[in-house]
Amino acid sequence: NLTTPIPAPTNFCGTAEIKPGLNVPYSCCPPKLDIDPKDIPYYKLPPVSKLRVRPAAHAVDEEYMVKFNLAIKRMKELDVKDPSDPRGFLQQANIHCAYCNGAYKVGDKELQVHYSWLFFPYHRWYLYFYERILGSLINDTSFALPYWNWDHPKGMRFPPMFDQPNVYPDLYNPRRNKDHRGQAILDLVHFGDDVKATDLQRMCNNMVLLYRQMGVVENIPHTPVHIWVGTVVGSDLGNKKSDGEDMGNFYTSGLDPAFYCHHANVDRMWTIWQTIGGKRKDIDDPDFLNAELFFYDENKKSYRVKVRRTQQEKDAKEEMLTFKNLRYDVRK
Ligand code: C2O
Repeated sequence: NLTTPIPAPTNFCGTAEIKPGLNVPYSCCPPKLDIDPKDIPYYKLPPVSKLRVRPAAHAVDEEYMVKFNLAIKRMKELDVKDPSDPRGFLQQANIHCAYCNGAYKVGDKELQVHYSWLFFPYHRWYLYFYERILGSLINDTSFALPYWNWDHPKGMRFPPMFDQPNVYPDLYNPRRNKDHRGQAILDLVHFGDDVKATDLQRMCNNMVLLYRQMGVVENIPHTPVHIWVGTVVGSDLGNKKSDGEDMGNFYTSGLDPAFYCHHANVDRMWTIWQTIGGKRKDIDDPDFLNAELFFYDENKKSYRVKVRRTQQEKDAKEEMLTFKNLRYDVRK
């Protein structure tokens, strides 16, 4: 019941909570702006210089992994150099937290991009800027995020690049479930309990599930993948008991580099759905299309963006975000 269309949340910024009333000792407010929030300009899609092709995470070569690790490393270095640099790893993670855990308000209502029609467009824009920032930090204008191909049997394990602390330390994150690495097959309906099943059963279950699940992808499998990667709820994290951190809780999800890989596949699912034809139809409610979000680009500039650029509209002068500059590589 927010005002519609939702304006960009430029009234910075409250305290984040894990659950209503339960504050986290974690602040995810964005850095102070150097312009008046109401003057934040609208983002224009820049001309496409080179197509970005997102590769399947399980199929990339070493050169790619080295590059990706380096880009994330540079992001983390920005945190140290200037903690208020919006391109930094922490600040980028916080953009997600701010949009999930009650940090942003519109009027007196919490702005939450999950459980709503903002889910797909928000994450599409988020990855768009994240990817551009990574690319610019390694001077590669065609750098593209990997996607976790959990809809294919070959992609149903945790992508190895994220699980090699000695080789790719910046893609590694200790705050994960230790049982769900290596050869473990992902369970796309995982809500905390490890169900006994053979690998084959698990893969079959996953395939059957995917066949009927697009309409409600956010609930399943999107959320189970988060929970499957994150630490076991209630386990000891040193300073606190786990609430699923990092991947299993919205406020910390962006602190795991695997998050962006997971969401690249969520985005790919949406892309497939948008191009499949038949009965499916994009939402054309103006309250949806004109809803606004707020991000930083690779030059540290703040922008507002509209939801409408995430889907192709009839007679649109600008093309939609994904098809204009981005493809998913589906070679296995
Ligand atoms: Cu914004 Cu997968 O969560």
